[in-house]
Amino acid sequence: MKHFLDLSHISKKELRNIVDEAKRRKKKSSTKSKVLVTENSSAKDKLLLMIFEKPSTRTRLSFDLAMRQLGGQTIVMNSNDMHLGKGEESIEDTAKVISSFSDIVMFRTFAHKSLLELAHLLTIPLINGLTDHSHPCQLLSDVLTFEENKGSIKGAKIAWIGDGNNVTNSAIEAAVQFDFQLNISCPKGYMPSKKILDWAEAKNGKIVIFKDPLKAAKGVDCIMSDKWISMGDHVNVKKKKSALKPYQANKKLMSCADKDAIFMHVLPAARGEEVTADIIDGPQSVIWQQAENRLHGQKAIIDWCLD
Ligand code: CP
Ligand code: NVA
Repeated sequence: MKHFLDLSHISKKELRNIVDEAKRRKKKSSTKSKVLVTENSSAKDKLLLMIFEKPSTRTRLSFDLAMRQLGGQTIVMNSNDMHLGKGEESIEDTAKVISSFSDIVMFRTFAHKSLLELAHLLTIPLINGLTDHSHPCQLLSDVLTFEENKGSIKGAKIAWIGDGNNVTNSAIEAAVQFDFQLNISCPKGYMPSKKILDWAEAKNGKIVIFKDPLKAAKGVDCIMSDKWISMGDHVNVKKKKSALKPYQANKKLMSCADKDAIFMHVLPAARGEEVTADIIDGPQSVIWQQAENRLHGQKAIIDWCLD
């Protein structure tokens, strides 16, 4: 049984194969109908259960559509409507029921330990659809988007500017697993996970921390950013936004990158905060391609889990 919980849990070779499979599936995908089943997959006639503890647009739509195009079906549940670890029903009992009713589960939750606990109890594969700690599906399809625009990501230089959050943590793991350099510039107090930084160091990952965002962006092939306030982020919003102000992706920051650099953002975005509208809606931005590639990435992930 294969869970897709974090990029650090899966071998470099397997991750490379998943991205290549996503590329192949994108080339083959039908433009005639959104739900036409044209693809061979181990997901055929299988059921994906999606459980959301937080809102989602892209993750929900892309997983749902991916499953339909692979010949499977989905059920979407909001955790508020379930007995998941609440009231009279233990998480062990919920996990037994989920395992018997579905073939694969995608879970978007707050605490990463909830994801790990469910993974431990299920007898079917589990996919991390985002936790407070990481967002591996996003980074996997972002590797695809990078490569469509800039060629092989191996040896590339990417800058992460802004909040050190769940997406940053997965970007660090991606840098190690796909062999690219990640320059990180986040304000003091808003750095990514120390544990993941230590893991990257032990793996000889090229993670370079910069105080100055302009220096982090110098000559890079891509600048990545994300919202300053993530879902479930219980912080002093005013204080955090003020600390992050110098880390905005704007014309000045973008001009430090390579002239052909791309701008990536996982979305949703707050224009005027982490990024200015001229950058996110400008010619260097690849955000809509990132969003579309979630579909192709999810297909390859589901297929890998069920194969
Ligand atoms: N990028 C991303 O995961 O978007 P959603 O929160 O809309 O799923
Ligand atoms: N860091 C953001 C990502 C949203 C897809 C959040 O967790 O809210």
